Amino acid sequence: MNCYRKVTDDLYWVGGNDRRLALFENIHPLYHGVSYNAYVLLDEKTVLFDTADWAVGRQFIENVKAVLDGRPLDYLVINHVEPDHAATLEEILLRWPDVQMIMTAKAAMFLRNFGYTLNGDNIREVKEGDTASFGKHTVAFVMAPMVHWPEAMMTFDTTNGVLFSADAFGSFRSLDGKLFADEFDFDREWIDEARRYYTNIVGKYGPQVQAVLKKAAKVDIKYLCPLHGPVWRKDFGYILDKYQHWSTYTPEEKGVMIVYASMYGNTENTAELLAAKLAAKGVTNTRLYDVSSTHVSYLISDLFKYSHIVFASVTYNLGIFPPMHNFLADMKALNLQNRTCAIIENGSWAIQSGKLIKEALSGMKKMTVLGDDVSVTINSSCREQNVADVESLADALAADLSK
Ligand code: FEO
Repeated sequence: MNCYRKVTDDLYWVGGNDRRLALFENIHPLYHGVSYNAYVLLDEKTVLFDTADWAVGRQFIENVKAVLDGRPLDYLVINHVEPDHAATLEEILLRWPDVQMIMTAKAAMFLRNFGYTLNGDNIREVKEGDTASFGKHTVAFVMAPMVHWPEAMMTFDTTNGVLFSADAFGSFRSLDGKLFADEFDFDREWIDEARRYYTNIVGKYGPQVQAVLKKAAKVDIKYLCPLHGPVWRKDFGYILDKYQHWSTYTPEEKGVMIVYASMYGNTENTAELLAAKLAAKGVTNTRLYDVSSTHVSYLISDLFKYSHIVFASVTYNLGIFPPMHNFLADMKALNLQNRTCAIIENGSWAIQSGKLIKEALSGMKKMTVLGDDVSVTINSSCREQNVADVESLADALAADLSK
């Protein structure tokens, strides 16, 4: 059975929800599913904005058919070709072979690279500022390169203020019958998954997101229609403020994220002691994570949230404990920057992890290490002689947070 939602009088959400996918992009765990959004506009001409993943293909096609209600599909606007959106393109072409497709030149090239046979006569390639009219509605195409693929564009409906924003403003989580962000308690139920989506999928491309935000500021947006997650029709300031922070690598909150790598619990114990001393000094906006048992996508997400990060790692084979090493590599890959850090190192002999973590941080932008290069050194376990150093680190963090 079809299951679509109305966005405006003549615009419909025709996507689907996937609660079976374990790993988004075969990397990021999904515990609450994900939606693949597509939209149909019923004007003098009919227009489909993007397609959907195979996982929801049947539902998607049923929805499109139901909304068209026997009318032909005249246009297909492809804002983004990544297969979680373009996978069902051929299902559309099979059913409506005369549909006129609108996309960027790169999108057409990428689709052919993915193996689609496209009739060039049915494709209109567009660039920044080009427009199309479907009757009452005129849309303008806004290039959004590297948000987060090179071919990506957004489409702005100048008639009703709808911005089809591709992956931007998207989120993990299934919609569960609702559609609009104001139908949820977004700040309680969604923000963590929205942040995890942005930071891990788009986080590397902050400058490109900034460029798009500047373009968006010049138009009067009434609806934000992303390819994942809810549609925004109010409270734009809330989500735009989050994007402003994330895309400039500005922390959302003053707080301390302590990430530890511990083999037998002794580095963990030191991290716990630091957290307890911070709390005793009134610093309670803290999070403690075991790097071995926390998926790195959650760590990356909180890195974008908090201002201060403590890395506590045992030495392993004269290097950084591998999960911590991988975490640092992901931080660099995602362009994380502008944070205040501290380091706790441990080892039973030839302690190296602190020095190596410092070196890894020096390869990232605007990372400050508090105090000496290594704040606390533990030899196998935290003992009486180490407590003063942990106390000093807590003092240094508390003082820095109060600035
Ligand atoms: Fe949701 Fe970049 O695809």
